[in-house]
Amino acid sequence: MWDRLLIDCNIATMDPAVPAPFGAIENGAIGIADGRIVRVGRRTELAGNRAREVVKLDGAWVTPGLIDCHTHLVFGGNRSAEFEQRLEGASYEEIARAGGGIVFTVRATRAASAERLAEAARPRLEALMRGGVTTVEIKSGYGLDTDSECAMLRAAARLGAEHPVRVSPTLLALHALPPEYRDRREDYLHLVLDEMIPTVAEAGLADAVDAFCEGIGFTPDEVRALFECASSHHLRVKLHAEQLSNLNGAALAAEYDALSADHLEHADEAGIEAMAHAGMVAVLLPGAFYALSETKKPPVELLRKHKVPMAVATDCNPGTSPVLSPTLMLNMACTLFRLTPEEALAGMTRNAAKALALEDEIGTIAPGKAADLCVWNVERPAELSYWIGHPGPVRRIVAGVDA
Ligand code: NIG
Ligand code: FE
Repeated sequence: MWDRLLIDCNIATMDPAVPAPFGAIENGAIGIADGRIVRVGRRTELAGNRAREVVKLDGAWVTPGLIDCHTHLVFGGNRSAEFEQRLEGASYEEIARAGGGIVFTVRATRAASAERLAEAARPRLEALMRGGVTTVEIKSGYGLDTDSECAMLRAAARLGAEHPVRVSPTLLALHALPPEYRDRREDYLHLVLDEMIPTVAEAGLADAVDAFCEGIGFTPDEVRALFECASSHHLRVKLHAEQLSNLNGAALAAEYDALSADHLEHADEAGIEAMAHAGMVAVLLPGAFYALSETKKPPVELLRKHKVPMAVATDCNPGTSPVLSPTLMLNMACTLFRLTPEEALAGMTRNAAKALALEDEIGTIAPGKAADLCVWNVERPAELSYWIGHPGPVRRIVAGVDA
């Protein structure tokens, strides 16, 4: 006897084994037991199975719960003043070099406790959840000392414990050089390698380690040292790469079997080939592209050519992507980067799961996967990216339970 049987629905399984666009099964049904999907198919195929609860969905579409695989959701303060400066003509890089940008948020973040950080992030998380998010990656990177980074990661864990959402925490150790290390870059790197990573690994506070490989961030050599250390502590790696310039970060990440390279506006074919060989995911972040009024688009054609899976995420952060709507990112991935609606949805489901090494657990509607689902009042799945910020599902189910 199953716990729940969802009927009277159309299903965008996003499972490549289902040969229709969106892996669609019309007039389908989903059997759920112990928080997992046990069966999915046409209603007629599931007839004769009994469940404690039969849920009629009035012809709605069911998708996997959305997965936001790149966010900086936890931070102190906000950067609306910097937004105004940029409108007056200052560039993101100029503001960063003048001691604003990320470092501005570092000051506000260090001043807050883990509890206060979680409180500040809560409305943002709730907005993402209303938009359909059932799993969210959350990076640190605004603490930049061991205690403050740990406080950020504890805030992320607390958010996951208090809400029906899965949280995947990432230590973004090399985000910006903290002001107190301005003339001692190497000392900061040593702090990260000798203290921060071991502490975070020991406490089990993060699943992965990330860095910002950029002229205003960290050099490929510094990132290499970080990745060596992370790997030795059995932490996976990922990289903000090729956002504002090309430092061959994607290829470097591939050498360390990274989960993903993210942004990638300036990536070239060699980098993408390396990503393909390493089985990496390309995480596209249209919110940051839009907010910075960028003109160079990520090389989507090359990603398709080399069959690198594309994920799409909000990059929710106070500086370059104050985005609170996952469905807006589906739309922008299509309008700005020319993804198809099916590619965009795969980017926030199946491929986002892979970017978090959770592809065995979530991301498609298939037997054995966790029953993390969204129920949408739409006529066709393409509608999810057609609306410029669809308001969200009518039902969100996490581990089989309405959430
Ligand atoms: O993903 N690129 C670096 N990190 C963030 C921006 C962080 C900030 O400006 O606060 C990003 O775009
Ligand atoms: Fe980011």
